[in-house]
Amino acid sequence: MNKLCLLGLLVSLASQPALSASDTSVPAANSQATLHAKNAFISNLMKQMTLDEKIGQLRLISISSEMPQPMILKEIAAGRIGGTFNSIVRSENRPLQEAAVAKSRLKIPMFFAYDVVHGHRTIFPISLGLAASWDMDAIALSGRISAQEASADSLDMTFAPMVDISRDPRWGRTSEGFGEDTYLVSRISKVMVNAFQGKDVSAPDSIMASVKHFALYGAVEGGRDYNTVDMSPTRMYQDYLPPYRTAVDAGAGGVMIALNSVNGVPATANTWLLHDVLRKEWGFKGVTISDHGAIKELIDHGVAKDLRQAAKLAIKAGVDLSMNDKAYGEELPGLVKDGEVSVKEIDSAVREVLGAKYDMGLFANPYLRIGDAAQDPVDTYSEDRLHRVEARDVARKTLVLLKNKDETLPLKKQGTIAVIGSLAKSQLDMLGSWSAAGRPKQSVTVYDGLANAVGDKAKLVYARGANVSDNDHINEYLNFIEHEVDVDPRPAQEMIDEAVKTAEQADVIVAVVGESRGMSHEAASRSSLNIPGKQRDLIKALKATGKPLVLVLMNGRPLVLVDELAQADAMLETWFPGTEGGNAVADVLFGDYNPSGKLAMSFPRSIGQLPTYYAHLNTGRPYSPDKVGNYTSHYFEETNGPLFPFGYGLSYTQFDVSDITLSAKDMPRNGKLTASVTVKNTGKVAGATVVQLYLRDVTASISRPVKELKNFEKVMLQPGEEKVVSFTLSEDDLKFYNPSLKYAAEPGEFKVMIGLDSEAVKQASFNLL
Ligand code: BGC
Repeated sequence: MNKLCLLGLLVSLASQPALSASDTSVPAANSQATLHAKNAFISNLMKQMTLDEKIGQLRLISISSEMPQPMILKEIAAGRIGGTFNSIVRSENRPLQEAAVAKSRLKIPMFFAYDVVHGHRTIFPISLGLAASWDMDAIALSGRISAQEASADSLDMTFAPMVDISRDPRWGRTSEGFGEDTYLVSRISKVMVNAFQGKDVSAPDSIMASVKHFALYGAVEGGRDYNTVDMSPTRMYQDYLPPYRTAVDAGAGGVMIALNSVNGVPATANTWLLHDVLRKEWGFKGVTISDHGAIKELIDHGVAKDLRQAAKLAIKAGVDLSMNDKAYGEELPGLVKDGEVSVKEIDSAVREVLGAKYDMGLFANPYLRIGDAAQDPVDTYSEDRLHRVEARDVARKTLVLLKNKDETLPLKKQGTIAVIGSLAKSQLDMLGSWSAAGRPKQSVTVYDGLANAVGDKAKLVYARGANVSDNDHINEYLNFIEHEVDVDPRPAQEMIDEAVKTAEQADVIVAVVGESRGMSHEAASRSSLNIPGKQRDLIKALKATGKPLVLVLMNGRPLVLVDELAQADAMLETWFPGTEGGNAVADVLFGDYNPSGKLAMSFPRSIGQLPTYYAHLNTGRPYSPDKVGNYTSHYFEETNGPLFPFGYGLSYTQFDVSDITLSAKDMPRNGKLTASVTVKNTGKVAGATVVQLYLRDVTASISRPVKELKNFEKVMLQPGEEKVVSFTLSEDDLKFYNPSLKYAAEPGEFKVMIGLDSEAVKQASFNLL
């Protein structure tokens, strides 16, 4: 730590009676005593602050786009910036911190934030993939390593986890979230907050979690990014709000506010959301952060006539930090001067920003995560800073086997394998959306993973086969900000012909097809869910060779795979699997790892079928396959239900699930009941599977979903081994929000369902007394 700066901080605070040197050694636990010390520290500091300095603390500046560096340094020294994001190297952030703690009047430290979503330097699979592992230890490991790597690069805060429930795969940000299910996403939300923040968020290897996007961003109409959200309060409370709340309960220090409106009121100006729900009802004590430029966007939302009114609405609603937005800096001084915003309102936001800095340990040591220059890594991107072993292991757990006809997989490491597809050799696409500081150069492609695995035992032949997209407009769009997609200018048919020739020399074809990562990103909503471009023609042509066809899918959302399911002999869903993705895919393709991933989102049969989430209501006219006819709730043109249901995923072995045994027929109030099944590995190899428990409240004061996930357990079984898996249910598992938003369980019959996906379940019933 820079001793001079700490000294400066102590001297500047020494005049405050309540502060002593020990006030700067911030205790970790949130006990009453430490809370008292924190509050006293902040109150004393705030007494010294001018209005300008207070407003400065509310500004979160983007390094890349908002102002040039010399200007930023000047502004920090003048006390007019509270934190920055997007600068991710110690040597870049050190001068910024120096400007704050050595040059600004009150020496209030800066904080440094970044979107560390699924890895920092080592990139783990995208969040939708992580969710498909259903493995909380693996997910925790990815979060902890992300925190260690990010903090070692001087970062104090991440804009994650992203826990927006998404049930519409058209939405590009589906890739960033953990899927459609409230229970699964909530479990992961807690795991991620704990992993980022560690035991103590003020530890040098912890980073503060800012859960996002509060609220309901995943429910944008039609899956069109930034679009409207209109939702009943019961659905909000029951299905969409719990993951954010879990993060808050787990102690997330920050909450990022969504860009969308909620029932007509933009979240950024939504007092009900930010004050009544978040602060009052949930007791959130941390800092709220607007999303990028969101305050200004209140004008476009049509609730503010100008920037001044936008700033006023946001601060009054409870937006503490303004991200990449001139609104607070330019407008708050005038608003306070004219008496339209009170100093008290400013103070309450400033208090939260300073509180977050205090919790991150920055008052105790502004260089906590920046460290001494002498210890800066010689090469920020050096190999030895990566966690490849962990990335590979986590990635293998996220892969979902969708089809395996006649045991096409695992492949043998022999003969000739044709690897086809532009994605097979794309290092960039392995990383997926929001890949933080991940470097494409360091990622292992599927081609390289296969080559590593076979060594000289088998021959690989390669052809590109098709561009991900041949549409100029789409490619231009994807390449708009950064160069994302390479386009081979050859005619499509020429590339397909070449691929067919290549495939004809081989014993088996591995075609890597799907989306480029930019297609599953922010502002990347799709109006079709097909595998894009000429890749579909390529698959057809490959199928026509008669060779066994393995499709390795790369995509950040559920796709419509009806044709591919018919054409492929085997299909492996690999998402965007990260730095070690290629090796992980090879592990599974060759059977060195038996796949155990399960979908965290239903895959529809067609786009017209959306939404296809499994936890739907029964309706008054439910579709029944046994009683086909008119006037039931379904689409008459195609088979009802998803192509692959939520929770689905195959293995190289088979499992048998017994009937359910219940410990009792009735559950007394406040009582418990156990539901058990015996799961047996009936196949020839060891494997893991996820045993899933769903509940249905048969008759209640409001219509309840046909099933809702309430628990799960991942079990590993040797061939022939069986295990009793027991789930203990309590009244809490049966509770729901009624129309008056009372959270309670109602007596009556409950169905309990246990299985290895959300459709193939065993069933039993009990009564809540
Ligand atoms: C996104 C946020 C992200 C922020 C900062 C915005 O465009 O919506 O999720 O945290 O940018 O990068």
